Amino acid sequence: MTEAPRPPNPALLMQLALAYRSSAVLFAAAELDVFTTLANGPLGAGDVAARCGAQTEPMRLLLEACAAEGLLSRENGGYRNTPVVDAFLVKGRPAYSANGFKYAEDLYPAWGDLASLVRSGRPPMPPETILGDDKDKTRAFVYAMHERARGIGSVLPHLIDVKGRRRLLDVGGGPGTYSVCMVEQTPGLTATVLDVPGVLDVTRELVDASGYADRVTLMPGDYLKTPFGSGYDLALLSGMMHRETPDSCRLLLRKAHAALDPGGLVIVSDVFFDDDGKTTPPFAVYFALNMMLTSAEGSAHARTEMARWMGEVGFVDVQTNELPKPNPHTLVLGTKR
Ligand SMILES: C[S@@+](CC[C@H](N)C(=O)[O-])C[C@H]1O[C@@H](n2cnc3c(N)ncnc32)[C@H](O)[C@@H]1O
Repeated sequence: MTEAPRPPNPALLMQLALAYRSSAVLFAAAELDVFTTLANGPLGAGDVAARCGAQTEPMRLLLEACAAEGLLSRENGGYRNTPVVDAFLVKGRPAYSANGFKYAEDLYPAWGDLASLVRSGRPPMPPETILGDDKDKTRAFVYAMHERARGIGSVLPHLIDVKGRRRLLDVGGGPGTYSVCMVEQTPGLTATVLDVPGVLDVTRELVDASGYADRVTLMPGDYLKTPFGSGYDLALLSGMMHRETPDSCRLLLRKAHAALDPGGLVIVSDVFFDDDGKTTPPFAVYFALNMMLTSAEGSAHARTEMARWMGEVGFVDVQTNELPKPNPHTLVLGTKR
């Protein structure tokens, strides 16, 4: 006798409908400074509440929720940061990245309007908001990009052939973090960061604080219109092709090709779909939606099409190189003959 099929279980739907609560727990604890408060060892809920200017019982429940999410562990009636929280969410730690994660919180209103994007095809959030129009949001965006870029930036010079290179053009370079990392690790290299003026106002602070202002120049402009100049032997286009149409990507690659000397290397670093079908990996699907929500022409491209466009504009030896996980970026590299 065959068993009757089980009726569908709504557990998946419940989990999806309530998933935002987990994000809210992380964001609230970060906003209240819980993790920095616990930096020196475990404390009970009353102490944490008092130091964070909060109420004890809701704080206790928040701390319990943090424990349930793996952000805190319980110890002697108190709460302790887990190692990942200690590394990334305690102010003053070298890998502090709370601004980077906060940017995900800033995007929640746009994600809450996902249906409106799908209906109209237009981003619910004006893209210029974080590119200079709103000073506070622009600042938060640039610092988020900076924190996100530090990890990749420190390994990039080891993943590509930068030894002996003299001039880097960092197109849509945002906080200039990659430029600073590359210059720091490559004797004799200087860099030019091209980005919109409102973003570069914040970049200035970061580059000055890095101590490399004498080797990193800022070039305000629109990368689609501003001439790139010439005489570069490295061109980096990181995390910006996903804002652009295929035609604009080809234009940017053509401009990079013209700006490079023979032997020059172009590096496109981005989140890509695996192939032209644009179905995998799931991270790229979410990322493409994220870009449609926050930019006029945004989406994610396939690494196969980026490689093809490079070939079409004249780059040779085109290769792809995935960055170590959990970094979702892949490098597509090409050389000017
Ligand atoms: C996601 S950020 C990437 C920043 C940096 N390259 C990185 O990988 O961390 C994209 C950058 O492109 C810049 N951008 C967007 N449109 C631009 C344009 N038309 N001209 C110049 N920069 C632009 C933005 O201001 C932003 O800094």
